[in-house]
Amino acid sequence: MAPPIPSHATASDADAAADDWAARDDFEEPPAGSHSHPPVAAAAAEEAAEEAPPAPPAEDIKEIESNLQSLELQPSDAPQDSVQTEAEERNRKRHLNVVFIGHVDAGKSTAGGQILFLSGQVDDRTIQKYEKEAKDKSRESWYMAYIMDTNEEERAKGKTVEVGRAHFETETTRFTILDAPGHKSYVPNMISGASQADIGVLVISARKGEFETGYERGGQTREHVLLAKTLGVSKLIVVINKMDDPTVGWSKERYDEIEGKMTPFLKSSGYNVKKDVQFLPISGLLGANMKTRMDKSTCKWWNGPCLFEIMDCIEVPLRDPKGPVRMPIMDKYKDMGTVVMGKIESGTISEGDNLVVMPNKANVKVISIYCDEDKVRSAAPGENVRVKLSGIEEEDIAAGFVVSNVGNPVGAVTEFNAQLQILELLDNAIFTAGYKAVLHIHSVVEECEIVDLIEEIDLKRKKESDPKKKKPKRKPLFVKNGAVVVCRVQVSNLICIENFSDSPQLGRFTLRTEGKTIAVGKVVAVPPAGSATFKA
Ligand code: GTP
Ligand code: MG
Repeated sequence: MAPPIPSHATASDADAAADDWAARDDFEEPPAGSHSHPPVAAAAAEEAAEEAPPAPPAEDIKEIESNLQSLELQPSDAPQDSVQTEAEERNRKRHLNVVFIGHVDAGKSTAGGQILFLSGQVDDRTIQKYEKEAKDKSRESWYMAYIMDTNEEERAKGKTVEVGRAHFETETTRFTILDAPGHKSYVPNMISGASQADIGVLVISARKGEFETGYERGGQTREHVLLAKTLGVSKLIVVINKMDDPTVGWSKERYDEIEGKMTPFLKSSGYNVKKDVQFLPISGLLGANMKTRMDKSTCKWWNGPCLFEIMDCIEVPLRDPKGPVRMPIMDKYKDMGTVVMGKIESGTISEGDNLVVMPNKANVKVISIYCDEDKVRSAAPGENVRVKLSGIEEEDIAAGFVVSNVGNPVGAVTEFNAQLQILELLDNAIFTAGYKAVLHIHSVVEECEIVDLIEEIDLKRKKESDPKKKKPKRKPLFVKNGAVVVCRVQVSNLICIENFSDSPQLGRFTLRTEGKTIAVGKVVAVPPAGSATFKA
């Protein structure tokens, strides 16, 4: 077994406060009532009539950004009344984005597909068709994954490349499922998916040898957990999957072994395991313990809730609909005007609003708003939307720009101070001023350089309550793997970011080099309002 990674900075008090989800620890009493599943758009459930573009190279960010968007905007010819009814319906139910993460082949797409099947989004005929198609490709067991893996390359290789997107509803919640790829070449796609998510389903294979490979250093179980935490996924449902596999046979010992190994690792990754993490055994392939509770004839020892129950009653922090408008732009296109796509991280966007696109300070007006395929009058924080704007050309927008309110626009900077946790440097290199990497922060992807190491943080000492015992600041020349360091980061283009303590979603980031995540961090200081650098 690989040793656990060193404990780290993101479990600090500041983080805990910023990430403090109103938790519900016990799931023993799920809300009464069945989970009804009215048909909603299930993009991935539809026929893959149009093939998606081929796999992007790992660093080809632009393509990745656009690959993420699998839904086409349908102009709504619905009468006004139905627009209002939809809006009312939306207001009644909360909306959650849930990203499926985990090591390659853990069963993310299969579980996602099974959820859509169980919730009535995919009919038996389609499943039969997929079974045949999978068989023809000598991938019999992959048919459930075909619901989420819609393009030819994904189906042929049995690997998700693009983040699959689909919708389903339970009694209390409208869910958008984001099915991330597990393969390490597609980590940038996973980052894009996780950055849109509120909660995560971490899928772990219990099959002999598979849990071990995913959990090892270099395995994506670890990398995905760290990335998810950094990207704002504060609640995790850990599904221990493939419990039906002959090497597992619903063994309680195997389940306990995996939970036992994952728990300290999740803790060291910054998750409060009691409040923010819920484990359960499932079989994604058979659909066991998913929509309905475990059948005792399948597994005697599990008395806990099933996946739908947990998803239904998971609590997420209330976002402030009256906060400043912040919508990082993921992608944009022309459609009789300029349409931008992204998730509203804070504030509410309504038709007719006058807003500003940062960092180019372009004043814009909101012409129309779409949530999924529906036209709505306004959209609240947490919603993934498409917004048609006037006052700006599509060419003048790039992914990473942020739609803000006029009175309190997001700052645009070329440098900031960050608290970084170094995970694993390539070839065990040392981390010094002059280190260059690729910065991923909300939808921004930029080359950056570390220009100064300001302070190395001794986490053990930081926890001591007596400030006199604290060591004086030590400015290090270099740090190594596992270190937590405050440093200054520079980029050459203006980027829109905020302090983590003000806006976790716009203040947490990852650094990657050569396709590998080498550090996670949070913004601790930005230049004064109105200036891009610390020195005027
Ligand atoms: P990537 O997208 O490549 O990261 O993989 P994934 O995590 O989406 O895995 P996928 O759903 O494609 O499944 C991989 C393989 O595991 C397929 O052969 C599935 O049939 C198999 N599998 C998934 N879930 C289960 C399960 O619950 N039980 C068993 N026995 N096999 C499963
Ligand atoms: Mg997959």
